[in-house]
Amino acid sequence: MEIKFRGASISFNSSGRGSPLILLHGFLESSNIWKPYIESLSRKRQIITIDLPGHGKSGFIEDVHSMELMADAVKAVLDHLEVKKASLVGHSMGGYVCLAFIEKYPEASESIFLMNSTPEADSPERASGRDRSIELVKKHKKAYINMAISDLLPAEKHSQFQKELDELKEDAHSFSEEGIIAAISGMKIRTDRTEVLKSFSHKKYILIGKKDPIMNWESIQTKAASTNSEFILTEDGHLSYVENQSKIQRILHFID
Ligand code: MLT
Repeated sequence: MEIKFRGASISFNSSGRGSPLILLHGFLESSNIWKPYIESLSRKRQIITIDLPGHGKSGFIEDVHSMELMADAVKAVLDHLEVKKASLVGHSMGGYVCLAFIEKYPEASESIFLMNSTPEADSPERASGRDRSIELVKKHKKAYINMAISDLLPAEKHSQFQKELDELKEDAHSFSEEGIIAAISGMKIRTDRTEVLKSFSHKKYILIGKKDPIMNWESIQTKAASTNSEFILTEDGHLSYVENQSKIQRILHFID
């Protein structure tokens, strides 16, 4: 299904009935990542998956897809489905969007689960890495996608998850250059939402892998403690929904 949002189409799916749970993918991913989870989860509740702007089948809106703009797109889908309140799950960039959502729409937010994600803003080093990424996308989108997706797992896990990495790459090769750049630019300017998470009064969870090549689990553990979030530490890299499917399945079942 799709809706029009600020002139672009936003693709989404809804299955099942009961208390709504939104699943948001990360950068260079699409709602396809949730496919292995939907059948079982939607037996008990309504599961909504959305292709964020510039990803999957959703269109490009403007040069910078800020986390707030993406949260507005999510809200537009919820309004269309007449969903007043939902629990939020976000993988990585999807988690940044969940945080923007709970800040803008607290009345529409139930619990929040940040999977391989953080309330922190980019460090200065990471922000300048974003500029280099944009240059690479402009020069050689395909090579950039292959490299960026391989970098989500430590080298020791590459052969075990080769098929999944290849599927992610193939999916991302269909995304437009402008959509990829808009997401990188949006992540670069995102604000630190530690205080937002801290003052969120519903249940909150942060899951992080000790082997995540792009996120520092120790600093995120400190953030979880300072925001009163339940902290789940795994041996994963950055792709827990692939590496640790049965654990994620269990967690998604108890989130309310
Ligand atoms: C993601 O996996 O969504 C991104 O790599 C997160 C990021 O670059 O900060």
